[in-house]
This record gives sequence, C-alpha cells and structure tokens, in this order.
Amino acid sequence: RLTMREKALERRVLRSLEQVEERLKECAREADDPRLADIVGHLIAAGGKRLRPLLTLLGAEFGDPRAAGVIEAAVVSELVHTASLHHDDVMDEGLVRHGVSSVNARWGNTVAVRSGNWLLAKAAQLSAGLTSEATPLQAEASERLVRGQLRELVGPDLPEERLSHYFGVISDKSASLISLSLRLGAVQAGAPAHVGEVLAEYGEHLGVAFQISDDLIDITSPSADLGKEQGKDLAVGVAGLPVLLVLDDVRPENGELRALLSDPGGLRGERHLRALALLQRSDAMDRARTLMDERLARARSALAALPSEPARRALDALCDFVATRTA
Ligand code: FPP
Ligand code: MG
Ligand code: MG
Repeated sequence: RLTMREKALERRVLRSLEQVEERLKECAREADDPRLADIVGHLIAAGGKRLRPLLTLLGAEFGDPRAAGVIEAAVVSELVHTASLHHDDVMDEGLVRHGVSSVNARWGNTVAVRSGNWLLAKAAQLSAGLTSEATPLQAEASERLVRGQLRELVGPDLPEERLSHYFGVISDKSASLISLSLRLGAVQAGAPAHVGEVLAEYGEHLGVAFQISDDLIDITSPSADLGKEQGKDLAVGVAGLPVLLVLDDVRPENGELRALLSDPGGLRGERHLRALALLQRSDAMDRARTLMDERLARARSALAALPSEPARRALDALCDFVATRTA
C-alpha cells in the first residue's frame, strides 16, 4: 500500500516521464532531415523500460523535482543509453532490439555507428545547458561505457582473472550509466552533495546487479519477452556471468558444457541450443543469482544513508524489480 506522499510521487514521476518521452522524440526531430530523424529516432520510438530516465527523476526527488532542467537531465540519461545500444548491437551483431530490427540490421553498421555518435553528441549538447556539474558527469559515464566495452572486447589477461575482469567490465559498461542517471537528477535538482554520493554508490551496486540479471534472462527468457534474440551472448562468444562460473568449475559433470562454452568463436545451431539447455539447468545459474542478490543487498544498505523520502522506497522497490525481472 502506498502512502499519500508515495502516491503523489508516483503521479509526479509518471507525468515527468511523459514529458521525457515528448522531449526524446523532439530530439530525434532536431536531426533536421526526416530520414536522419527516422534513424536516430528508431530505437527511441520502439520504446524500452526508460529505467535510466526514471532513475534521474527519482534522484531529483532528493532536491526540488520541479527544478528547471530535470526533464532534460532524464533525456540525457536515455540518449547516452540509446547511443550505446546503437554501438552495442553492431559489436554483438544484435538484429533485434526492443522488439524491432536493430539499427544495424535495418541500415547497416556504418549508419548505426554514426547515428550512435549523433545521439551521444546530442546528449552532450543538452547536458551543456544544465547545471555545471552535468557535463563532467555525462562525460565521465560515457568514457566508462566505452572503456567497459573495449575491455570486454580485449578480454582478461589471464584465465584466472576472468571473474574480476567481468566485474570491472560490467561496472563500466552498465553501472556507470545507472549511477550517472541518478546523480544527474540529484545535481540538477540541487540535492545535497552527500545525497549524490550515496546515490552513486547505490547506482553502482544496482547497475552490477542489473547486468547480472541481464545475463541470466539472456539464458532463461524467450526472445518474444526479451525484445531481442535469446542466447545472443553465447552465439557471439560474449561470456555472461553464468558462463564464466561454468568455465571456472572443473567438476567432471560440467565437462560437456565447459567444452561447448570454451569455443571462442561462439555457438550456433545445434550446439547453441544444447549449451542453452545445459546452462538452464546448471547450478551456475543459482550461483550467479546469489552474486546478484549480494549486490542488491549492498544497494539496499546504501539507501539507509538517505533521508526517508518516498523516493527512497521507490529505489528499494527497484531492487525487487531487478531481482525478479524476466524481460
Ligand atoms: C549492453 O550490454 C551494452 C551496454 C550496457 C553498453 C554498451 C556500450 C558501448 C557500446 C560503448 C559506446 C558508448 C557510447 C556512450 C556511445 P549487453 O550487450 O551485455 O546487453 P544486451 O543483451 O542488451 O545487448
Ligand atoms: Mg554487448
Ligand atoms: Mg548486446
């Protein structure tokens, strides 16, 4: 049951999300040429959870949520995210995103990379009109995103470093933007500095947990739910957490799965289906879930340092959402 203040927060956030939606579509139209607007607006129009704008709006609740620029800050979070999806689908050969053709599938890799760059530039342009802290934050998160993605490509130095490498990669490629989204809202709304720091810490843990949940549902959820191809990580040889746990587990009952997953070229056809089926019943799934739950517990305990606003309860509820999501 929601209290009066929580209901008011819900109404305020839903109304702001509608404004974010309009502003996002307007950004795409600002590409000037209608064909360009189609390309840069393609994934925006397809939709998505709008998790990052939601986080910015919740961060803003710790200051004045009606402050000028809060909506734009939420738009910046989603633009950086969308830019990263344009690039990610090129790198992962993703053909479906948010239930529609990916940008690369529809217009080719070159267009997907350039339009991703445009979205990132647009985010920089918008953030330059916000409080002076916004652009450095946006730049730092973008740098970490690209760094994480590069480190994922380059891989660990030694097999023993696979897990620590993985956690480094996902904090950079996922948690950085989750954390940025929250902080951007807080700074734009003039929240106290210590609140921004606590939100950043919460966001880092939530972001790592979120990426682990992404790795899990890539294995468990059908494409129709995911809005993208199931088991894509396996197909292109990008190892998610359950895969890494299997690779590190030398018990003989894991032999067949380990052999399949050790193929650096990725898995297609029968071998892909077999690996997915074996992974689904592997105890590596439970072990990955435990590691995710540990992160969620750390995210929740960070929240204790925040004032007891309705937004704090919403952030706590987001931990439940990550723990139970199937899409
Ligand atoms: C999805 O991960 C991808 C990311 C979280 C970040 C991708 C970052 C880049 C491509 C760097 C470029 C960044 C900017 C700022 C333009 P995933 O492939 O594990 O998830 P998926 O299953 O959703 O594809
Ligand atoms: Mg990727
Ligand atoms: Mg991908």
